[in-house]
Amino acid sequence: MSLIGQDPKDKIIQRFARHVSSGKAEFFSQVGVDFIFGKREGVYVWDVAGERRLIDCHCNGGVFNLGHRHPRVIAALKRALEELDIGNHHFISEHRAMLAERLAALCPGDLKRVVFGVGGGEAVDTAIKLARGHTGRPNVISARGGYHGHTGLALATGDEQYRQPFGPLPPGFCHVPFGDLAALEAAMDGDTAAVIFETIPATMGIVLPPQDFYAGVRQLCDRHGAVMIIDEVQTGLGRCGDVWGINTYGVIPDILVTAKGLSGGIYPISATLYREHLDHFFRRNPFIHISTFGGAEVGCYAALEVLDILSEPGFMEHVRQMAGLFQAGFEQLKKNHPAVLVDARQRGLMMGLKLASEAFGPMMTLAGFHHGLLTIYANHDQSVNQLLPPLTIQPDQVAQALQSLDNMLAWLEAQVA
Ligand SMILES: Cc1ncc(COP(=O)(O)O)c(C=O)c1O
Repeated sequence: MSLIGQDPKDKIIQRFARHVSSGKAEFFSQVGVDFIFGKREGVYVWDVAGERRLIDCHCNGGVFNLGHRHPRVIAALKRALEELDIGNHHFISEHRAMLAERLAALCPGDLKRVVFGVGGGEAVDTAIKLARGHTGRPNVISARGGYHGHTGLALATGDEQYRQPFGPLPPGFCHVPFGDLAALEAAMDGDTAAVIFETIPATMGIVLPPQDFYAGVRQLCDRHGAVMIIDEVQTGLGRCGDVWGINTYGVIPDILVTAKGLSGGIYPISATLYREHLDHFFRRNPFIHISTFGGAEVGCYAALEVLDILSEPGFMEHVRQMAGLFQAGFEQLKKNHPAVLVDARQRGLMMGLKLASEAFGPMMTLAGFHHGLLTIYANHDQSVNQLLPPLTIQPDQVAQALQSLDNMLAWLEAQVA
């Protein structure tokens, strides 16, 4: 018997409301979304009741970079399960070492060392701990409206709305406007341990920084002896048409954080990669940071398969080609719907549609459920709809997604006419 749809929809919703989140259940009921993830395969997700199919252009921020249930990732995990388990994080691990070596080989410069975690927030926390441990300084600067997760230190880097109820928060965190080198320079001094940015902040609305921004951040960090941390949780692993989004800006950070897509959507794993000159800290304190499930040995094989797939000849070229199809499609959509579509933001398949009003993002998300597309508005700028399709999307599916967007924008226009 299938695991999907064992109970009718209303029973699932009631059970979820009673035992998981009454608030979420109420929210979705109020906004008229009753989609429950059922079957999922490749670029598609189906409603549990089976009658609706969407192209997943949300992909959980890149978890499903390779689409849903990639057969090679599943096979790799099954193979690992025949002989391995989580492993013991206190000891030397053959499998963690293999994955770390592969990750390091995919990184620019001397980003050669890895601390494993389970999720993105944890990996960001590790990055900040290392920056503070390395510099002996307290302060961390991040972008106002950015997002690095909901764990302790990551939460402190993030947006006011998530931090405010949970005070007192750790001191030493300061927020500057994204993309503004002068503001960053003014905030930095001899107490700055680290500067952390998402290469392209997703929750802020897929905001593309000026092309020379990261070269400037690099220079400022070098001048002040601060650690440059780049969060590649969404932009990494091929999303921007290169292994790392930051590669497209020609800059090497001191610490790079990857998570979501490294799981292949199958087994959670994250990694904090750091440069050789930071290693003295963990060398002196090798047991100072612990994550029991970080780099779980069976998960290493899912991640290794992910890295194999994205390293294959033609993979990045495919991403860039699909990005080109979207780019051409966006030009047409702008012509078709000038009253509601303001701009298309894009780097590779990291994409967002900027709409004419904050009200339109949620409306587009709703429209997507009726027009075959899963797309979520950016929480910190609701006039932007995030579009992160699987990197494995094919040309006919890009055409389908663009047709859906055309229909959704036409519906939006009709609502506001
Ligand atoms: C850019 C970025 N960093 C960090 C995180 C946190 O990752 P996780 O939810 O796995 O803790 C997210 C999650 O959405 C993210 O988008």
